[in-house]
Amino acid sequence: MISDDGKCNVFARMRPLPDEDPKLGTTAAGASSAHALVDIAPDHVMCSDGRGEPRDFTYPRAVIPGPMNQEQTYATMMMPELIQKFLFEGQHCTLVAYGQTGSGKTHTMFGAGMEEDESGLGLLPRAMLTALEQMEALRQAGTHKFVFSATAIELYGIEVFDLLNEKAQVQISAFSGRGFDFEQCQEMVISSQSDVQNLLRILFTERTSRGTKMNDRSSRAHCIATLNLTRVTEEAGKKMCYRSSFSFADLCGSERTSKTAATKTSATGGEGIGINYDLSLLHFAVEQAVQQQGKSNSKKLERADGILSKVLKTALDGESLTNLVVCCSQEARNGGETFFTLKWGEDMSRLRLRKQAQQGKDLEKELERIGKEIKEEEGAIKKLEASPSGKQNKFYAKRTMRVAQLRTQREFMSSLM
Ligand SMILES: Nc1ncnc2c1ncn2[C@@H]1O[C@H](COP(=O)(O)OP(=O)(O)OP(=O)(O)O)[C@@H](O)[C@H]1O
Ligand SMILES: [Mg+2]
Repeated sequence: MISDDGKCNVFARMRPLPDEDPKLGTTAAGASSAHALVDIAPDHVMCSDGRGEPRDFTYPRAVIPGPMNQEQTYATMMMPELIQKFLFEGQHCTLVAYGQTGSGKTHTMFGAGMEEDESGLGLLPRAMLTALEQMEALRQAGTHKFVFSATAIELYGIEVFDLLNEKAQVQISAFSGRGFDFEQCQEMVISSQSDVQNLLRILFTERTSRGTKMNDRSSRAHCIATLNLTRVTEEAGKKMCYRSSFSFADLCGSERTSKTAATKTSATGGEGIGINYDLSLLHFAVEQAVQQQGKSNSKKLERADGILSKVLKTALDGESLTNLVVCCSQEARNGGETFFTLKWGEDMSRLRLRKQAQQGKDLEKELERIGKEIKEEEGAIKKLEASPSGKQNKFYAKRTMRVAQLRTQREFMSSLM
């Protein structure tokens, strides 16, 4: 069961050693089967960084050993339960994959394509297929109506790109009291297995990846795919509307340029430096969030810098049910990185979550409210356009982003009337 102690659920997944999976021997250069892990149990793992004494890391939610396949991983990470919360409790959920380059983050989150068979599918496509199946049953029973859609962005350097819109750059509004706003991204409506397949294909082909000495297809940009749900059901004779999202963040891996065989001036080396920097800012944001928890300070992440921390703000601020999977190499040559990754996972497990399920809203009233807000925003935009600063005004981008978001919301909700 998803723990009710209010903490971030953290799992550790071990990439199989080359001799556990012969296919892997060719992907990691110089792969050796010497073990960095002294002991693996279902709830803890003892790791040596090759220098000091081995340390025991506690993972009460689960340690996923190398031989465990994609389907078992999906169940062990309690994904069916998370999907229930996302579908029927209006709960925002986030799943983050973190770990050294080549440790299996993309394999865990997205997995292989759907062309041959479904055994290689990662957590995202499995979650989508489960959600589609459950929604279909309720749709046929006539008790619920849904709009299920997805967005996908990548964060490359300090810029954000829309993977579902030919990699158009996504504008981010200036910092405000409400947090950060992103330009409305292209929403892909997901209604069948072929839509899931299509989304996966785009994620594989559009995302920036490159071969390094550590990984043939190393992700060079952080990728966040988000499932969005608008659900309408009848309660006490009224149509009630629930909205929730489920984000899957497949981060780039921390890396040492000496191991990826990059130089500081090469594309790969420059990317590596940027990636490590983003990840260290994210560490700082997590530390800050942990220190701030319990304090009545709504601007917790104001000091946290970095695009990654901004995009994951909802997850770190505790507004979403956040799960983390730390992916680890078991090889002795990667002992230092695995030690550090396990330590980071432990830190994240101290993060408390508010787990606020969204309240249902009266559909008719909500559509009225949104219509009114759109009119007000449009009025304000017209005034800004006529002002001396015009489109350069710092509120202009923010307001146009808001209107675009509201229009998409209205379109989805109206279709469920
Ligand atoms: N649990 C696993 N079982 C089988 N193969 C795996 C597993 N984990 C990873 N692999 C394989 O190892 C290789 C590297 O994995 P992957 O690309 O997922 O790493 P990554 O952590 O995303 O790396 P990067 O940070 O460089 O993007 C891939 O060929 C992948 O298929
Ligand atoms: Mg990757």
